[in-house]
Amino acid sequence: MTLAAASQAGGGGDDPAAGPCRHLAIIMDGNGRWAKSRRLPRIAGHREGVEAVRRVVEAAPGLGLEVLTLYAFSSENWKRPADEVTDLMGLLRHYVSHEIDNLHRNNVCLDFIGDWRSLKPDLVALLDAARVRTAGNTGLKLVMALNYGGQGEIVRAARALAAKAAAGTLDPDGITAEMVEAHLDTAGLPPPDAVLRTSGELRLSNFLLWQVAYAEFLVTDTLWPDFDGAALANALAEFSRRERRFGGR
Ligand code: FPP
Repeated sequence: MTLAAASQAGGGGDDPAAGPCRHLAIIMDGNGRWAKSRRLPRIAGHREGVEAVRRVVEAAPGLGLEVLTLYAFSSENWKRPADEVTDLMGLLRHYVSHEIDNLHRNNVCLDFIGDWRSLKPDLVALLDAARVRTAGNTGLKLVMALNYGGQGEIVRAARALAAKAAAGTLDPDGITAEMVEAHLDTAGLPPPDAVLRTSGELRLSNFLLWQVAYAEFLVTDTLWPDFDGAALANALAEFSRRERRFGGR
């Protein structure tokens, strides 16, 4: 179901239950604070963050999740010191190259959103090979947001629609929410039912700006490196207590 369709469908019934969380999007935050509290370098926090990714990917299917979108590197993260950016890219390379067999064995379909194709060519080749190899898998869809920013994604969609209008193949007055969605990186995915941010911060940080229109916002004080399957189960239990109205009453 598209986001536009979800907002039409919601709020019409008498049942206050939130229904299942099919798609959870996570802003993984707190790696730096985890490291600082242990007097460790930031890279140690990011490394433990990768362990938390492993735990959550393993637990997700058993908790009913169909899609898990992780904010791994934002288009604003380039502003971080160069050595931290290099460390994060190295961890991404390490995670995908070491975890791909395991993900494939577990029927996980790995995909990416954001401007990931403009990363270093060898990394793009690794990511693309992982994507192609797991494309036919029917289990958890694991979406990593890489070099991703919600505003940039909407700008790219607007440009694509404008190009069609300029070419005369699209009537600007005929542009619908569904058409915008079809030009986003997340085209074909159900909208996130919930967006979870760890480490207690209350910000969206340019994550899935269009797609979270009707998502429930979940926040935990747990720092990302401490996050695990039990914490994920707690967050989903909190989601199940929410009443979703999609603008209705
Ligand atoms: C925020 O912590 C986290 C990130 C900038 C990126 C998330 C990255 C990981 C979990 C590791 C890499 C993951 C993969 C799959 C390769 P922060 O540094 O902003 O923490 P702080 O707010 O406490 O400083």
